[in-house]
Amino acid sequence: MTLREELDGAVAAIRRRVPNARPTVGLILGSGLGSFADKLGGATKIPFEEIPGFPTSTIVGHAGNLVYGQGGDSATVQVLAMQGRVHYYEGHDIQRVAFPARVLIAAGCKILIVTNAAGGVDATLTPGEIVILRDHLNLLPVSPLRGVNDESIGPRFPDMSEVYDPKLRVIAGQAGAELGSKMREGVYAALPGPAYETPAEVKMLRLLGADLVGMSTVPEAIVAMHMGARVLGLSCVTNLAAGITSQKLSHTEVTETAARVRDSFERLLARILAKLAPPEA
Ligand code: HPA
Repeated sequence: MTLREELDGAVAAIRRRVPNARPTVGLILGSGLGSFADKLGGATKIPFEEIPGFPTSTIVGHAGNLVYGQGGDSATVQVLAMQGRVHYYEGHDIQRVAFPARVLIAAGCKILIVTNAAGGVDATLTPGEIVILRDHLNLLPVSPLRGVNDESIGPRFPDMSEVYDPKLRVIAGQAGAELGSKMREGVYAALPGPAYETPAEVKMLRLLGADLVGMSTVPEAIVAMHMGARVLGLSCVTNLAAGITSQKLSHTEVTETAARVRDSFERLLARILAKLAPPEA
């Protein structure tokens, strides 16, 4: 099956469940951050298994539903949210990892908000802080654009000079400021995982210009650029990266920190969505 046929099949499955949906914002909710989708107004939950071509997640803390509903303070933005995502380390091909992001855009979303839990490579970051992505380093071994290109979906050689939309970054910063936090921006490095980094690797990442490290987000951001969508990336710093403190890393710590910031993260997302409501968007 071609990518176009796969996208059409997935979008048709979504439309069968929510025929009147006209989503404009796609949302990918990372580790421990999926609960926001439960807050959407008039939500319809579609398990990933019901959407042809969707990979299913195997990780604790990743629920595995596509949720359609209204978001924003006055619930005026139609959102298609992924509660959980899959990662490259789970064994899927990178094209499959990025497929759901493509589906959100093929379903009509012009903006993709990608969130994740990340380790802080910049030692001045604080666990619990939410950082706006300014740029990324793709340190995964392959690109989700590898293979035959369908020019009707996107260009063979997409420009990557501004993956994270400057206007969306300003909006996210304003939303944070209104909620009382000064949001910082950072560069996110995507590594294949699933082992956390060694202290030497974290030093290397810092030398390369990374502020944050994680195992997701970049494949989705790349396919969104390929398809001409605008991208906003948000990292929840769940821990300082290996070697910055003497503390050992664990998935439990990652999910616990994400759970601790859940309320403020949800408020931030709601405020950002409100600012994306028409006619401002
Ligand atoms: N490294 C990689 N991925 C992560 C980390 C980390 O320290 N924290 C949360 N996701």
